[in-house]
Amino acid sequence: MSGAALHWRESPAPGGTRLSAAQVLTLVSDPMQAVEARLLAQMDSPIGRIPDVGGHLLGAGGKRLRPLLAVLACRATDAPLNVAIAVGCAAELIHTATLFHDDVVDGGAVRRGRPAARMVYGNGLAVLVGDFCLARGLEAISATGSLVTVQSMAAAVTEMAEGEVAQLEGAGDPEATAEGYFDIIDRKTGSLMAWCARVGGVLPGPLDATMARYGRLLGRAFQITDDVLDCAGSEPTSGKSPGRDLQEGKLTLPVLLACEACPAVRDDIRSAMGDSGVSTEDAARIMQATRAAGGLDRARAQALTLAHDAVAELQSVPPSPYRDALAALARLSVERVA
Ligand code: IPE
Ligand code: IPE
Ligand code: MG
Ligand code: MG
Repeated sequence: MSGAALHWRESPAPGGTRLSAAQVLTLVSDPMQAVEARLLAQMDSPIGRIPDVGGHLLGAGGKRLRPLLAVLACRATDAPLNVAIAVGCAAELIHTATLFHDDVVDGGAVRRGRPAARMVYGNGLAVLVGDFCLARGLEAISATGSLVTVQSMAAAVTEMAEGEVAQLEGAGDPEATAEGYFDIIDRKTGSLMAWCARVGGVLPGPLDATMARYGRLLGRAFQITDDVLDCAGSEPTSGKSPGRDLQEGKLTLPVLLACEACPAVRDDIRSAMGDSGVSTEDAARIMQATRAAGGLDRARAQALTLAHDAVAELQSVPPSPYRDALAALARLSVERVA
């Protein structure tokens, strides 16, 4: 079993017929090992702090969802495996870069159950090693010699940066809307997942469109679940500091749905919102009100519906164990507890 299986902590699922994270990983253990080896090679540098800082984050595991999407999509569609391994490696490097940067932007203290890199090495090194990861991701993908994968990667990274900037700009706005929320998460999370599911854009037209829709839907479901965990989770299980989004001034789907159901929650947010977000005490109270108004349950239900929609897209992919594993990944993305 790959080490990544340990990082898919699932809630106990009823029935025994559906694929577990460990079974999904077993199905593609060889190409996933190839991705891991490539990742290690790409983080090599004569500047010793670079592999040290990179190893701090990459060595802490992570679910490796993006490489899994690329490799499973490749197997399910008969795309070239060397391209899928390059896409998986590049995507994980891009993801790693955004995590380094994201923790600086969000003031995140904990990542993958460890102190965030910026807490150990400082913001400067975290930002610069993030830049290194982006450059190495570009190198990994350009080694395929396929211009379409480089172009589609540039488009995905552009969208991600736009999403992060839009989110930062909107932080602290108590009038945030669900429409704005979906626009942000499609960019910051959905774009990279869709790129992986498309195997970097090398699939034939109709299949490319199908896998793009699957990846986008899965990305939405995954990010909503992340935001639900922020409202509901605790540090030991989620590996992150709890209740942070609202403290940073970010209104995520559970809170927005609570505001819809109960306008008094919005009033509370309006009066609690300061220049740098919401205080810990105010956030705790608003979280409680969010739960009481059903915001958490409604957000969970929306994530589940999106995961079902992602699975439905797979109907036009030929049946195979790999297609089943892609369906399992959509389910795992919403059932996960970390
Ligand atoms: C974290 O992504 C950032 C989000 C898009 C929510 P993951 O939850 O995939 O992070 P790791 O790689 O498993 O740590
Ligand atoms: C992570 O976003 C960065 C990207 C998706 C680009 P978040 O800030 O929502 O994720 P966590 O909760 O810190 O992992
Ligand atoms: Mg963030
Ligand atoms: Mg963050």
